This record gives sequence, C-alpha cells and structure tokens, in this order.
Amino acid sequence: MLTVGTVQLKNWLILAPMSGRTNLPFRLIVKKMGAGLVVTEMISAVGLSRGQSKTSTYLDTHRAERPIAAQLFGFEPDTIATATRIATEKGVDVIDINMGCPVKKVVKTGSGAALMRDPKKAGKVVAAARRSTSLPLTAKIRAGWSPEEANALEIAKIVEGNGADGLCIHPRFASKGFSGRADWTLITRIKRALRIPVIGNGDITEPSLALKMRSVTNCDGVMIGRAALSNPWIFKQILELEEKGSFATPDLDDRYKLIMEHYAFLLQYLGENRATNIMKGLLLLYTKNLPHRKYLKYLVSEIDGRQTLMSIADRYFGFIRRETAGEG
Ligand SMILES: Cc1cc2nc3c(=O)[nH]c(=O)nc-3n(C[C@H](O)[C@H](O)[C@H](O)COP(=O)(O)O)c2cc1C
Repeated sequence: MLTVGTVQLKNWLILAPMSGRTNLPFRLIVKKMGAGLVVTEMISAVGLSRGQSKTSTYLDTHRAERPIAAQLFGFEPDTIATATRIATEKGVDVIDINMGCPVKKVVKTGSGAALMRDPKKAGKVVAAARRSTSLPLTAKIRAGWSPEEANALEIAKIVEGNGADGLCIHPRFASKGFSGRADWTLITRIKRALRIPVIGNGDITEPSLALKMRSVTNCDGVMIGRAALSNPWIFKQILELEEKGSFATPDLDDRYKLIMEHYAFLLQYLGENRATNIMKGLLLLYTKNLPHRKYLKYLVSEIDGRQTLMSIADRYFGFIRRETAGEG
C-alpha cells in the first residue's frame, strides 16, 4: 500500500499522466484494471485561472476513478495557486505539479521541465501550490534539463522542502526526450535522500519490471505510462504476479470486452465523432500481436461511425475466433 499525504492508495501502482491519452474514459478503464491512482493529462494553470472552458473540462472526473490526481503545468506561482484552488474545488484528491514536460510549447513559457533550470522558481511554484490546498501535493520531475544540468536531487529536495507529500521521478533528461534508457539508479539515490514517498517511472514495459524497479530502487510506488496504452491489463498483471508469481494474459474475449467497454465510455463522454476517431486507433492498439493486422487496418479505414465500428470489430474478432477454433 502507498500513502500520499492523507490519501491512502489501494496499491502502489499509478497510471502516468499522458496528454491526449489519460482522459476520463481511459482512466476509468485503467482503474478497473486495478491502478491505485490515476492522473489527468497535464492541465494548463494559465487556462484554468483564465476560466477557459475547454481547459476546465480536463478536471471533469467520475467517482469511480477516485482517488485521482490532477496534474497542473505553469511557471507563475500566483497562477499555480489559483489553478490549485480551482482543481481542489473541483473535487480531485491529489495535486501534481509538472516539472518534467520537455515539449517546446510548454518549456518556452518556463513551465514543465524548464522549471528544473530555475530551482528558485521551482520552489516558489511548489510553495504556492502548498499554500493553496490542503490536498496531498506531488511533483513529477526528470533527471534534469540535460546531462550538463543534472540537478534532479537538488530539485527533489526543494520539492520536499516546500511541503510536497510525494515526488515522481522519470529519470531521463528533458533534452533527450524518450531516447536512451531511464536511469533507475537515480530513483535509488532520490529515494535515499527524501522522507516523502518516491514514485519511480520509466521503461516498465512488462509486469516483472515493475516489481524489479521497486526492489532495486526501493521506491514506494511505480508509475506506468506507455505500456498501459496498448496493455491496460498491466496493472492487474503486476498485482497478480506479486501475489501469485504468475499472471494471465488477455484472451480474445477479454480484448473484445475491453474494446466495447472503452468505446462505450468514449461515446458517453466525447460523442460519436470523437469517440469513433479515437477508437479507430485503439482498435489497432488493443489487438497488437493478434494475427491479420493488414486485414484489420483495411477494415479500420472503412469505419465512418458507430455502426461500422461495431460491425467491423465483430467481423474481425469473429474471423480470428473461427480461425483459432480451426474453422478459418
Ligand atoms: C503520449 C504521452 C503523453 C505524455 N504526457 C505527459 C504529461 O501530460 N505529463 C507528464 O508529466 N508526463 C507526460 N508524459 C510522460 C509520462 O508520464 C511518463 O513519464 C513517460 O512516458 C515515461 O514512462 P513510461 O516509460 O512508463 O512510458 C507523456 C508521455 C507520453 C508517451
């Protein structure tokens, strides 16, 4: 179990914030798969503080996904303070500050990973959020801006010193994007240096690696991003592996059920057009490693609405089922 401030999670597994991905429908799916905490996409503190309606929809949540963390990005302490108050009033359970995003349009404003280049500002941002909420507060950092500015340990201590209740580290330099391997030894060093819970993140591509990260780094929690996009079952699989020493992989029926469930959530929250467009991509992701991908890609290109999507999913799964049963 992992406790962040006053919030007790049911386990130590966390869905990483991923912009364009960790929307409400996906978070509901991942929660069902057993994640102890889910995080929103990063949300602009400026957008929230200006009352932009599109930005505030990122704070829409459902009780079934709680506890939930809202991740905010910004650079101006007063704006972060306002956004923190707004998110708190909206009913999230944890506030997380993004200090790791390397995307140009974010860092050019001084937000995201750019905050790591300005430790004083980073401290002020955390302090401002701390003053503005009684909810647990966390920050997500990188190894530093670049190998020449490898200051994760300094920033981690600043985050803790300014009242945060937890820290997540994705140990890659912002300047390196996703290239190379995440340096788990940095997670170990940060864990040794802090009293607050430390969450490790980076390169958990299969269930055993989550257990390995925890045992080699001694981190309190593990955060999973990209692997969950094609394999949301990973949370369940890690928990099963921890408990029983092995885990089940999803069969055809599990995959079909997941597709239908995810599509139903997308339809409910995003409407038919957006839901169907997103689901076209998800159909290919959730069928990764299944046969006849070319056929499926061809079928997906024919999808133009709810009805075609449903019938194409049925057609593809029916085809594979018959083939697996030896009738293909
Ligand atoms: C599509 C995508 C969007 C992301 N968006 C965010 C974000 O909004 N905030 C953030 O802190 N990190 C973001 N990340 C980084 C992830 O949270 C995570 O740190 C990274 O993917 C490493 O973990 P992984 O190896 O498990 O994927 C994003 C990553 C991806 C792939």
